Amino acid sequence: MRFRNFLVALTLAWAIAPASAADITKGRVAWMKFNCNGCHGGNAKGGMGPNIVGKDAHDLSTAISGDKTSGGMINYTKNTNPASIPTSTDLDNMSAYLKSIDTASEPKWVDWWNH
Ligand code: HEC
Repeated sequence: MRFRNFLVALTLAWAIAPASAADITKGRVAWMKFNCNGCHGGNAKGGMGPNIVGKDAHDLSTAISGDKTSGGMINYTKNTNPASIPTSTDLDNMSAYLKSIDTASEPKWVDWWNH
């Protein structure tokens, strides 16, 4: 019984916690900071790498950990500098950015250090 109460409490805590709002602007900053734009293009529509507009955080997580890549996509999880490894927050934000492309909320600035 106590364990069940614990589960109920856990479920409630999870349900009540504010959904972490992914930040489109921070997503574009991360997109440029990690140099994803260098291969996928400034607005993710493809360059040397494929068009990845609209990809979700799970797709990004798979891609940056090298599970399904062989033709040039970097395995970011092997970077020795932790600052060069996108966090799950970075991935959520980048996904929000990728999903904003071609909508009114798409950020188009290029000077990421101004944001
Ligand atoms: C050095 C070039 C390069 C950089 C930098 C790069 N990518 Fe890629 N990416 C690729 C290539 C090329 C592919 C296609 C798969 C392959 O051949 O490895 C790819 C594939 C992907 C895919 C899977 C696309 C699909 O349709 O399956 C995603 C998602 C992705 N990249 C996201 C990112 C993100 C996010 C970043 C930045 C953190 C990034 N990439 C940085 C070259 C790059």
